[in-house]
Amino acid sequence: MSQSEKTIQIHDKNFKIYLTRVKILEYVKQLSEKINRDLKDKNPVFLIVLKGSVFFAADLLREFKYPCSIETIGAKSYGNSTVSSGQVTFYLSSLYLKDRHVIIIEDIVDTGLTLKSLINKLKEYEPASIEAVAFLSKPDQRKVEVPVKYIGLEIQPEFVVGYGLDYAEVGRNLGDIYTLIEE
Ligand code: PRP
Repeated sequence: MSQSEKTIQIHDKNFKIYLTRVKILEYVKQLSEKINRDLKDKNPVFLIVLKGSVFFAADLLREFKYPCSIETIGAKSYGNSTVSSGQVTFYLSSLYLKDRHVIIIEDIVDTGLTLKSLINKLKEYEPASIEAVAFLSKPDQRKVEVPVKYIGLEIQPEFVVGYGLDYAEVGRNLGDIYTLIEE
């Protein structure tokens, strides 16, 4: 694996390395071991929350060793800003979740507004259960209480990009995670 760049610029802001790809995969492995153990007989539906979660979901789901289905849902709360707008819009596809064990896959839970709204929305589909897995969580940023059963890593309230996370749509494809350098 090539050496990661230590600092990068995206649009008008500078970021420094925060979590390397190697470290990311260690956290994914820990999560996948728990999820394999808990869900082996459940034939779960993994619901990938677009767009940020696609990289995490791809890594996590490759490690799931049992039958499962995969669905996607679009959610948008940040616009082109670095702070949550608080308004969550869902782009619903046809979801068949009745009596299924649903595991929502999120790249990050920040205020919790997206996840909370999504869980409320999904209850309309009458699933057997709803749980969530998030690669990152910022507990100090919560505006609403929301259960996240599986968390890869808890972080401080700082802005991060890479591994699916963007700054105004740029940076998602970075293999490592970077954090904003305050200037
Ligand atoms: C991000 C992230 C979560 C949400 C978390 O999505 O992927 O869905 O924000 O923030 P919250 O806990 O404050 O609600 P975003 O709306 O930026 O969409 P994206 O995944 O397409 O970038």
